[in-house]
Amino acid sequence: MKLVEVRRCAVLFLEPTENIRFSLGAVLSGGDGLLRHSGWQAIAPHLEDGCVEIEEWMAVLLGRLSPSRWIPWQESGGSYEEVLALIQKGLIVAAVDLPGMEHFRRSDERVRAADWWPLAAACAIRGRWSDVDSAADMERNGTNTVAGLLKTLGNPMPEQVIEPDLYLSRVEPDVFDHLLRRRVTCRNFSGQQLETATFARMMERVFAATHVEEPAPGLRFLKRSSPSGGGFHATDAYILVQRVDGVAPGLYRYLPESHALSRIGGEQSETQQLAMQMVAGQHWFANAPVIVALVATYRRSFWKYRNHSKAHRALILDGGHLSQTLYLSATDLGMGAFVTAAINEKQIETMFSLDPLEKGVIAVCGFGHRADAMAITEFDPGGAVWPAMDG
Ligand SMILES: Cc1cc2nc3c(=O)[nH]c(=O)nc-3n(C[C@H](O)[C@H](O)[C@H](O)COP(=O)(O)O)c2cc1C
Repeated sequence: MKLVEVRRCAVLFLEPTENIRFSLGAVLSGGDGLLRHSGWQAIAPHLEDGCVEIEEWMAVLLGRLSPSRWIPWQESGGSYEEVLALIQKGLIVAAVDLPGMEHFRRSDERVRAADWWPLAAACAIRGRWSDVDSAADMERNGTNTVAGLLKTLGNPMPEQVIEPDLYLSRVEPDVFDHLLRRRVTCRNFSGQQLETATFARMMERVFAATHVEEPAPGLRFLKRSSPSGGGFHATDAYILVQRVDGVAPGLYRYLPESHALSRIGGEQSETQQLAMQMVAGQHWFANAPVIVALVATYRRSFWKYRNHSKAHRALILDGGHLSQTLYLSATDLGMGAFVTAAINEKQIETMFSLDPLEKGVIAVCGFGHRADAMAITEFDPGGAVWPAMDG
């Protein structure tokens, strides 16, 4: 590492951490039984997991380095071993490819080129799940029932009761009101095939472009049934087809302008396992015949909203709008639908070959025919979908 120039990675946040561990020894010696260990975590979106543990001296050395100016490593204020240790963690980047470290420089460059608002980049990359089974986790910690929630968490904080000043009129519900009332998150899908035409209609209603404008080469504005921040419609539908007539089970990307599917891969034998990964073990969703990952292409929005503190939020909101349109479209066609943010982003990225610095999985939705009976609870207090429990 003779004349190698270095700089700090583009985006870096330092978090003081505390690890708490139970120790019988600590109880016997008269304490509360908890061993507390404080440390430091570096949060940097170009890292695979978005973070890495560091030592205190590393935090100090990193604070001295510029993220923009390359300097010979000898001027960094750290020893050879110290600089090398931080290069190996990916937090100091070398201007040349050092064996085994090239991927850090490349992903750091991608973060620089992507025009992320740094806090959003850290949040998006660090917040991804891998191999989480949220259904099993809830069962284990007893938060899968109301009684269990209260036992584990206690009562929620009471909120201030506000006296009404002006009552608003209510009207007899019309067709649209009834549609809204029948929108109930579906946790009971039948094993039925979905008809080709119903599937196509759903995709068209929710994700198709009804109009495309191209005021300059490469600058394309789609019109869709949902609104979108900046009009960029950065969110695409990546689909796991499990049971649709005429569509081979597997993974697809939906093309909104041509209203067509592009096949990505996947076999029938693995669709259930892929589905369970997508919805993080929530078996009540995994049986839906169609499961859709809402995937944002960051560049499409960040081209205009560079280093913008609202840009990532707008993409998340776009996902919310698409999911509501999907719910209402499915409800109108007599089907059930769901959306969930409890998803294994990392496995979804692998399934669809997505680079998380370029494309972010915002949420997962699904739709299909409901089962004949409600085995898993749905929130349908008015009996709009299911016969009222008390008859
Ligand atoms: C952003 C978001 C995330 C959600 N995640 C889950 C989830 O992980 N699991 C689940 O069973 N339902 C999930 N839901 C559905 C909600 O639980 C549901 O909307 C809520 O209980 C109200 O019921 P309703 O949709 O039938 O009115 C989610 C809904 C939203 C909007």
